[in-house]
Amino acid sequence: MVEFEPKIIGFLCNWCSYAGADLAGVSRIQYPSNIRVVRVMCSGRIDPIIPLEVFMHGADGVIVLGCHPGDCHYSEGNLYEERKIKMLKKLLALTGFEPDRLRLEWVSASEGQRFAEVVTEFTEQIKKLGPSPLSGKKPDDRILENLQAATNAASDFRLRVLVGGERELTEKCNVYEEKIPQEEFDSLLEEVVKAEYVRHKIHLLTRAQPLSVRALAGAVEMKPADVLDQIVAMRRRNMIALDHVEGTTPFYKALEVK
Ligand code: FES
Repeated sequence: MVEFEPKIIGFLCNWCSYAGADLAGVSRIQYPSNIRVVRVMCSGRIDPIIPLEVFMHGADGVIVLGCHPGDCHYSEGNLYEERKIKMLKKLLALTGFEPDRLRLEWVSASEGQRFAEVVTEFTEQIKKLGPSPLSGKKPDDRILENLQAATNAASDFRLRVLVGGERELTEKCNVYEEKIPQEEFDSLLEEVVKAEYVRHKIHLLTRAQPLSVRALAGAVEMKPADVLDQIVAMRRRNMIALDHVEGTTPFYKALEVK
């Protein structure tokens, strides 16, 4: 049997990790050839939707490599990326797509050996997970749709504002000299990620056809009362509207999100 050879996309920061990869190359350090390298100026340039889109195109794994904390040439781009990846992993966990297919690591320009070890270890991990459910000729439609909902949620400014504001909220005090404890922020993030994902999933489903709360509850595996709460929130944001009523059952249809 032919061994599975994963397709891995690596986003490498120009100043540290790309130089580390270069050093591995010139030092003739062996590492798997599964990684396709994309050079970026800073790991912080990787927008949350990029890994999701790469996965939707069939990549088996995505690794982002940046400078060690304190070494980022743009001050804190790597730390912002760390927060984005944390949010992305929470989103992926909701979609049925393995969050372990995404990884963030720090590799400096002098760490050619470490670059090779990280890539080797990640490649082994992806081999254990097997091919992506979105690779090959028949991608899993349900997971593809879930990833689309996750992409839409990650594009929404609500999640971006929360992720971008994590440091301010957890490390610095607000005008009332209050600081949010990290655990409290993490559970808030968990809650917001889930709510945004479900709303965008409902939005996608009702874009295809008007649906009742009961049908939506089945599709998103939630209680009808909880789906109704989300619809109320979506109506306030002009994401969805009542389409028609059959008997006593209302059907909802997505509105175009601006
Ligand atoms: Fe390397 Fe920012 S410059 S992570």
